[in-house]
Amino acid sequence: MKIAVIGGTGLIGSQVVTDLNAAGHEAVPHSKSTGVDVVSGQGLDEAVAGADVVVNLTNSPTFDEASLAFFQTSMDNLLAAAHKGGVGHFVILSIVGTDQVPELDYYRAKALQEKLLADGPIPYSIVRATQFMEFMDAVLSWTADADTVRLPATPIQPIASRDVAAAVAEVAAGAPLNGIRNIAGPEIFTLDELGRITLSHKGDNRTVVTDPTAGMFAAVKGDVLTDKDAHLAPTRYTDWLS
Ligand SMILES: NC(=O)c1ccc[n+]([C@@H]2O[C@H](COP(=O)([O-])OP(=O)(O)OC[C@H]3O[C@@H](n4cnc5c(N)ncnc54)[C@H](OP(=O)(O)O)[C@@H]3O)[C@@H](O)[C@H]2O)c1
Repeated sequence: MKIAVIGGTGLIGSQVVTDLNAAGHEAVPHSKSTGVDVVSGQGLDEAVAGADVVVNLTNSPTFDEASLAFFQTSMDNLLAAAHKGGVGHFVILSIVGTDQVPELDYYRAKALQEKLLADGPIPYSIVRATQFMEFMDAVLSWTADADTVRLPATPIQPIASRDVAAAVAEVAAGAPLNGIRNIAGPEIFTLDELGRITLSHKGDNRTVVTDPTAGMFAAVKGDVLTDKDAHLAPTRYTDWLS
């Protein structure tokens, strides 16, 4: 199959392109750096022309309120181009529990992206993943100072980007789900516990202070970012750290 991977130079997109091509498909990466802009629409018609499947793995440059406009405009442009080009399957990557955290702009933006796709004219699949293991360093840095890292005890089920890409590639090569598939890492931690494991592994002597008000994940209520019934990926966090 011919598969246009928009955002195909990113963390997940580049691995999805590799996986799809290794499986015998013709996957082509497109992004700003290849001259395709999902916000202005530049190069989109050409990027999706002749594609059986479009996989959208672009990301907003910010996680704030501006992310709503990014996902609205990019999906409007991509869906119009894909519809015009006769694309038969449109895949996006969203976040487990994204509709359960309306306090966070970025999570509302991803829920909006899902709705635009589901309400649109093209058969679709939504893959929802839990937090990427690769994202942990950024999470720790947001609330860190010289001596401490403050983190809430939010339940988190981290997944390796390698496993996310494999799941997205599998869905992209299959029939449209016209629904959602949840994928998650094999273990559930609290975020403060995950912070302690990460710092200890790196030989970082700072102390993790459990603080229910610290950082972005403080807004998350209960265990909505985890799903023990999701498709579970193989890679464990400590193995990934090693
Ligand atoms: N982080 C998490 O834990 C998590 C969990 C679940 C789902 N997700 C979702 O996973 C998806 C992929 O994330 P990622 O980490 O792989 O992203 P990433 O590494 O930041 O890559 C983003 C990609 O989007 C492209 N891009 C950005 N703006 C663009 C524009 N205006 N026009 C065209 N291309 C543009 C970039 O192209 P250039 O390199 O050319 O700029 C790059 O290829 C996101 O939608 C995110 O919401 C993330």
